[in-house]
Amino acid sequence: MVTDTTTILECRGVVKRFGALAAVDGVDFTVQRGEVVGVGGPNGAGKTTFFDLISGLTPTTEGAIKLLGQDITGTAPHKLCHLGMARTFQLNSGFDHMSVFENVLVARAFGRRSSGGLVLTKQQDKEMARALLSEIGLDDIAAEKVAGIPILARKKLMVATALMNEPEILLLDEPVGGLTPPEIDEFIDLMLSLKSRGMTLVFIEHVMRFLTTVADRAVMMHQGKVIYDGAPDGLASDKTVSEVYLGSSGLGDAA
Ligand SMILES: Nc1ncnc2c1ncn2[C@@H]1O[C@H](COP(=O)(O)OP(=O)(O)OP(=O)(O)O)[C@@H](O)[C@H]1O
Ligand SMILES: [Mg+2]
Repeated sequence: MVTDTTTILECRGVVKRFGALAAVDGVDFTVQRGEVVGVGGPNGAGKTTFFDLISGLTPTTEGAIKLLGQDITGTAPHKLCHLGMARTFQLNSGFDHMSVFENVLVARAFGRRSSGGLVLTKQQDKEMARALLSEIGLDDIAAEKVAGIPILARKKLMVATALMNEPEILLLDEPVGGLTPPEIDEFIDLMLSLKSRGMTLVFIEHVMRFLTTVADRAVMMHQGKVIYDGAPDGLASDKTVSEVYLGSSGLGDAA
């Protein structure tokens, strides 16, 4: 549910070319505060590349991106983090040799609300980390090294580290990719709790059950272009989506 009309993210005519391939091909995309947007589309549609452009990991070829009205085109990822953007990755990322608790603390120490590095970590940051791990259901493995924790926990940890930055917008790339149906249910609950707090979320996801349950708005990409931008429950009956995304037979099993 959109809680106000502050524009958090605005992309205009965004293009990314890799040689002759336009991986992202003229995308206009606006996100208001409190919106929860699910981005779908077949493999290779350009979804991750689009996130990489927004989050500064890859330079844009053309177009402009604004965060809270400020032009952030070409801005480095760490600066975007300090400006209020956080993201998670399609492949699990984390500091494997450090504990779950330390990973979350690192995000606080060097992120948006930086306390000046780990050595200067404040007691209140540690308390916040403990509270967040408890809320996300990672408190029982807080002391474990990240290298040994299960995939669901790794995915939750990426969300926890992002949240330690108190972001204005959180981008999640396939948050439930590779999870079992019960694990997906658990992640749906986590996302709905973030949504109930009014967080602005944009996530990429192939699992349609997750996308349609969590998102207020669905955006479908194909060959670098947006082919659908609207209500999630309109996806199943959309002709273009049916044709290019899942074949002419409609959403079928993927729903
Ligand atoms: N660094 C790169 N160099 C060249 N081509 C790239 C690069 N990164 C992505 N591509 C190509 O851009 C296209 C879009 O890739 P992208 O990873 O954005 O797709 P995606 O929609 O996230 O797919 P998936 O659902 O499989 O994760 C693909 O054809 C991919 O091979
Ligand atoms: Mg991807």
